[in-house]
Amino acid sequence: MGQANKREIIERTFRERYGGEPKIVRSPGRVNLLGEHTDYNEGFVMPAAINRAVYIAIAPRDDKTVSLTAVDVNGRYDFPLERLERAPRSWANYVIGVVDQMSRQAPVPRGFNAVFGGDIPIGAGLSSSAALEAGFAHALNEIFELGYDKLELVKMAQRAENEFVGVRCGIMDQFINIFGKKGSALKLDCRTLEYDYVPFESDDVTLVLLDTRVKHSLASSEYNTRRAQCEEGVEALRNFDDKIDSLRDVSPEFLRDHEADLDPTVYRRCRYVVEENQRLLAGADDLARGDVEAFGKKMFETHRGLRDDYEVSCAELDALVEIAERSGLSIGSRMMGGGFGGCTINLVKRDASEKFIELVKERYSKKIGKDISVYQVEIESGAAFL
Ligand code: GLA
Repeated sequence: MGQANKREIIERTFRERYGGEPKIVRSPGRVNLLGEHTDYNEGFVMPAAINRAVYIAIAPRDDKTVSLTAVDVNGRYDFPLERLERAPRSWANYVIGVVDQMSRQAPVPRGFNAVFGGDIPIGAGLSSSAALEAGFAHALNEIFELGYDKLELVKMAQRAENEFVGVRCGIMDQFINIFGKKGSALKLDCRTLEYDYVPFESDDVTLVLLDTRVKHSLASSEYNTRRAQCEEGVEALRNFDDKIDSLRDVSPEFLRDHEADLDPTVYRRCRYVVEENQRLLAGADDLARGDVEAFGKKMFETHRGLRDDYEVSCAELDALVEIAERSGLSIGSRMMGGGFGGCTINLVKRDASEKFIELVKERYSKKIGKDISVYQVEIESGAAFL
C-alpha cells in the first residue's frame, strides 16, 4: 500500500471514530549503515531515517482519557491519564510509556485521541517501536505546546522503552527518528551526543533490505544479556585502568593484552564492540572520500563480528549475507539492528539491484526453503507534522 493511501486511511479512521480534524505526524523507521550494538557502549553509530513510517492522527480531548486506535492490528485501548499502568496489549505500552515519561517532567494537561498505523514491517529490525515512541513524544510536545527540545524528546522516548517496555536499548533508534535528514545518514557519538550528517544520496547506489521474516522474539532477553556482558567486560578491565568507563575507552591493544583476564565469551563480545567503533570511524572516512567499495567491505566485516563474536545473527541472516557476498552484486551486506532475525542491509549498485534481488530470492529459497520480503529504501527526514 502506498504511503499516501495509508495516511488517508489513518485520517479517515480518526474522523469516523472520534470526529473532528486531527493533526498528522509522520514518524519514520530507520536503517543503520554501520555501528551495531555500539550505542549502549558509548560508541558510534550511523543510522538514517527511511521512507517507511508510522502515521499518527492525533487531537486533544477535553477530559483526562487517552484513546488509542491501532489500525494495523485492529486494536483499541483506552486509559486514564491518572493511571499509567502496563497494558495487556504490547503496542499500547510504547505510547503509555511515553505519556508516563512526560508526566514525570510535568503533567500532560489533557487526554487525547490518536489513530495510527503505517508501513514499517514489525519485528524486522527497522525500529517500528521507536517510531511509535518518538513519534508520540513529538506529537504530544506539539499539540500541548510542552516546549521540550529535540534531545529531551529523544531521551524520553528511549526511557519509555527502557523502563516501560523493559528493553535496555541504546539511544540510536529514537535519536535518528527525531534528527533524521533527507538524503543523509547521521554519524552519532553516543557518548557526547555530538553528530554530523553524512551525505548519502547517490544515483549509483541504493539500499536494499532483505527481510528473513524471522521475528526476533529472542531479541529483547538476549539484547539485555549482551548489554550485561559488555558491562561485565568493563568492570573487569577497570581493574587494570580505572579511567575506563565504557568499551569506548578500550583500545584493541589494551583488550588483547587482557584477554586472559576476561571470561572468553565476554572477551569476544568486547572485541566485537571495540573493533566496530574503529570500523565506523574508518567507514565515515571512506564515505567522505566517496569510496563506497571500502565502506561496503566494512559492512561484511561487521556481519562476521556480529555472527562470530557477538553471536546475535541466525542461520537465515547468515545465508542472506553469504549469498549477497558470493553474488558479486552487493557492495556490502550485513545483518542490521538487534539481531536474531529481521533484515540484512545491502549496498547495491542501482542498475544491478533488480538482478541482485532476483538472484538472492532464488538462491535463498533453494538453500533455506523460505521466501524473503524485499524493501528498497530511500533516506528521508525525521518525525514531523505533515
Ligand atoms: C536495537 C536498539 C538500539 C541498538 C540496536 C543495535 O535497535 O534499540 O539501541 O542497540 O538494537 O545496534
